[in-house]
Amino acid sequence: MPHVRLFSGEPLPLEMHKVRIVQKLDLVPIERRLQAITEAGNNTFLLKNRDIYLDMLTDSGVNAMSDRQLAAMMESDDSYAGSSTFTKLEDKVREIFGKTHFLPVHQGRAAENILARVFVRPGTMVPMNYHFTTTKAHIVLNGGSIEEIPVPEALQVTSAFPFKGNLDTARLEALIRQHGAERIAFVRIETGTNLIGGQPHSLENLRQVRAVCDRHGLMIVFDASLLADNLYFIKTREEACRTRSIREITRAVADLCDVIYFSARKLGCARGGGICTSDTNAYLKMRELVTLYEGFLTYGGMSIREIEAIAVGLEETMDENMISQGPQFIEYMVRELDRQGVPVVTPAGGLGCHLDALRFLPHVPQTEYPAGALASALYLVSGVRGMERGTVSEQRDEHGRETLANMELLRLAVPRRVFTLSQLKYAIDRIVWLHRHRDLVGGLRFTEEPKLLRFFFGKLAATSPWQDRIVQSFRQDLGDSL
Ligand SMILES: Cc1ncc(COP(=O)(O)O)c(C=O)c1O
Repeated sequence: MPHVRLFSGEPLPLEMHKVRIVQKLDLVPIERRLQAITEAGNNTFLLKNRDIYLDMLTDSGVNAMSDRQLAAMMESDDSYAGSSTFTKLEDKVREIFGKTHFLPVHQGRAAENILARVFVRPGTMVPMNYHFTTTKAHIVLNGGSIEEIPVPEALQVTSAFPFKGNLDTARLEALIRQHGAERIAFVRIETGTNLIGGQPHSLENLRQVRAVCDRHGLMIVFDASLLADNLYFIKTREEACRTRSIREITRAVADLCDVIYFSARKLGCARGGGICTSDTNAYLKMRELVTLYEGFLTYGGMSIREIEAIAVGLEETMDENMISQGPQFIEYMVRELDRQGVPVVTPAGGLGCHLDALRFLPHVPQTEYPAGALASALYLVSGVRGMERGTVSEQRDEHGRETLANMELLRLAVPRRVFTLSQLKYAIDRIVWLHRHRDLVGGLRFTEEPKLLRFFFGKLAATSPWQDRIVQSFRQDLGDSL
């Protein structure tokens, strides 16, 4: 983290990198944006890149790569079996996480498929701090269920609690007493908890979870996809870790877990994934499925160039300056929006800035998807693409009833090293404008609703012509501005 103090006293997230390759962006007029979001069925996943100014949908596979990563990609050793590029990654994973075995997979959910197939049996459950969409889908698909047992602060949208991603160990003990350890497939900890606002867990909490699991012979499976942000928060918010290096903290985290998996679309700023463990038994069971679903053990469905980039990216994640950039930009955005009265998730987490749609649009009932409506409205007024993380991201229960989400969030991801501060300021300005005109925003209803992971390709329509009214107000206030 750069220790630079400005003369003015203003806190400023200072980039410790410079831009050497750029991609041209366009900002299409609001009338075209209305057409585009209507064609996309008010689902930001279905927008086309040419209609988007700032793509804040996700950080997945879109973090900026470093010069060293690109250079490494040029010297990759491509072969079906025995590639020395793969050995480089295997060695790096062993060095950083201290696990004996490494299995490559093409992305994070592929690891989840393998883990669920090997460890989840019909009738078993997976307690966790919080679910991720694809994780839950794989566990349920294999006949299991999930039990979310985060600390109570996790679901308080505004809070000063530094570790909202912590798991409630008393609830874990109670769950084990109630159902028996034999019904628990494993305990899952998701670092940098995605769906509750990129909130971190502490190292101390992980230690306590380990102690409970040891008493009952349970395995901890650790989803390390958002580890970079969580490491930053452990380092800056956990008193006992302030003087420890990122590498030491990483190792301390890893030593408490039996199996670690990650999406390298996030961790390592490339595209791919992996699973590591020192449990040879577990490794052998998973290995068979890697060759069946992913590819041979020395590529696992990944391009060899990406494997080179992940090896370098993992090493760069041990650099405090590198992992500080995302959380510090997000903190800037959260602080500015909060100051201007816009409801946001606090404290600022990793991954992105999260708008609280329930407070932003209190007049839109949850059955009309306030977070989805906010995603659509924000795109309309700014060309900024965010992601709905609320009821649309849930799926109906077995009786077809709507599962109302615990939180209705619009996630504005801040991919690492991609945006400039002036771009963030533009996004903040348009969010503030929308908040001042929030009464204009109405609800949505499904017109096409897939059963599984409906948020990816479902389509919705506005429940009234509220989007036309937004365009009119925008033109009144902002004239011919884009
Ligand atoms: C916490 C977490 N786990 C797993 C995944 C799945 O990874 P992938 O998108 O690479 O399949 C994601 C993706 O966003 C994630 O955030």
